[in-house]
Amino acid sequence: MASSSTRFKTPGGTHDVFPPGVQQANSPDDTKWVEDITRWHWFESVARETCRRFGYEEIRTPAYEAPELFRRAVGEGTDIVNKEMYDVVSDKSRDRYTLRPEGTAPVVRAYLQHRLDLNRPVHKLYYLAAIFRHEREQKGRYRQHHQFGVEVIGAPGPDVDAEIIALAMAVLGGLGVTRMTLKLNSVGTPASRARYVEDLRAFAEPLLPQMSEDNQRRFRENALRMLDSKHERDQQLLEDAPRLTDYLDDESRAHFETLQKYLTALNVDYVIDPKLVRGFDYYTRTAFEVQSPDVGAQSALAGGGRYDGLTEQLGGPATPGIGFGMGIERVLIALQAAGLPAPETPGIDAFLCPLGAAGRDACVPLLAGLRAAGLSADMDYTGKRLRTMFDQADLLRARYCVIVGDDEIAKGVAQVRDMRAEGKPQAAVALDFVSDYLTRA
Ligand code: HAM
Repeated sequence: MASSSTRFKTPGGTHDVFPPGVQQANSPDDTKWVEDITRWHWFESVARETCRRFGYEEIRTPAYEAPELFRRAVGEGTDIVNKEMYDVVSDKSRDRYTLRPEGTAPVVRAYLQHRLDLNRPVHKLYYLAAIFRHEREQKGRYRQHHQFGVEVIGAPGPDVDAEIIALAMAVLGGLGVTRMTLKLNSVGTPASRARYVEDLRAFAEPLLPQMSEDNQRRFRENALRMLDSKHERDQQLLEDAPRLTDYLDDESRAHFETLQKYLTALNVDYVIDPKLVRGFDYYTRTAFEVQSPDVGAQSALAGGGRYDGLTEQLGGPATPGIGFGMGIERVLIALQAAGLPAPETPGIDAFLCPLGAAGRDACVPLLAGLRAAGLSADMDYTGKRLRTMFDQADLLRARYCVIVGDDEIAKGVAQVRDMRAEGKPQAAVALDFVSDYLTRA
């Protein structure tokens, strides 16, 4: 392990992301892709391109919002609100904000604040955003993670639920994720859920002494979440618990059945999981998660659902909504674990190697000329030996090196060295012609 040369480090549960080929000292092998910017660009381009095909447009919201927004939207009894929010307080005004612990509430806030309903009946939006949660860090679980998220506001039916799920699967499939399971459930309406929770609590109460401390707490604070317990013993005890899907009202049941019909029509495979409840209070009806066996304990690559009551909870008119969030780091970990080949990273067209002061004087305008001609070009700024400059050019995956020293200047030429051809041949090219030469190469 390389020794650290500074006492400053990334805060726990966060990471730096580096240009390709830059050595990542001290980072674990099984999460290398998370720290490689080319994988992020790749993810982002597949996500953006899929959104374009599906008719979704980008929205950006601030990284921090009023804490009350998340309290109301996500819910007082949830782990996110109770334990994981990062509050920021300005030293000067003492204003208090919360770094966004999820992306849905900010998008709905923006929708209501700017009266987007007046602009068109249905909004189909996506975002790529940093998300902050004070969680116990482990592989695939970070305190700053990043989500590709999608929200549709204004459309009530199962047709849009199917579209959103198909979009999530298209992004994952487009990236090359093959080992994944789509889990589907309906959490009904707040009224049907309240009836269910009552019966669930009655079922669980006599079993509590045998349950984990986690679940005993959940029983008191948010009983539905007991179903989500990671403890095997809890799962066994709840094996015969009442099922949420048996409590659905007629409309929710019809919605759920139509959604399944549409998914089948779209060739999207799914598994119904009556225990899938998700950690937010805003969900109604459809809830889903895409899980992968390749991320370790943190198996959810994406999760989402419908939130038809959220606009009203935030003080706006009743408006249906549905969306999902996809964890970019987790998807990269799954892809690395699947042994996918690295996507090609393009190098630069030319790396200029000035030899001596006169060479440098010639290279400064030459570099600007190459860039103005649309080439990607860089130059040595260290004044080290030519061999070291070649090494630097290789690290940047340069196609050509352009060498300019006193001899070349005397002849009005540069030596253009082809770094990818066998034997790396060099040609003398008139200085004024270097840009044309490289453009045509
Ligand atoms: P979520 O399930 O909390 O949902 O997060 C969505 C995804 O973000 C997860 O499936 C996971 O891949 C990733 N993720 C969550 N927490 C972490 C973490 N600590 N470290 C790494 N990755 C993480 C939401 O946030 C909802 N807002 C999704 C949604 C949108 N529902 C409706 N619209």
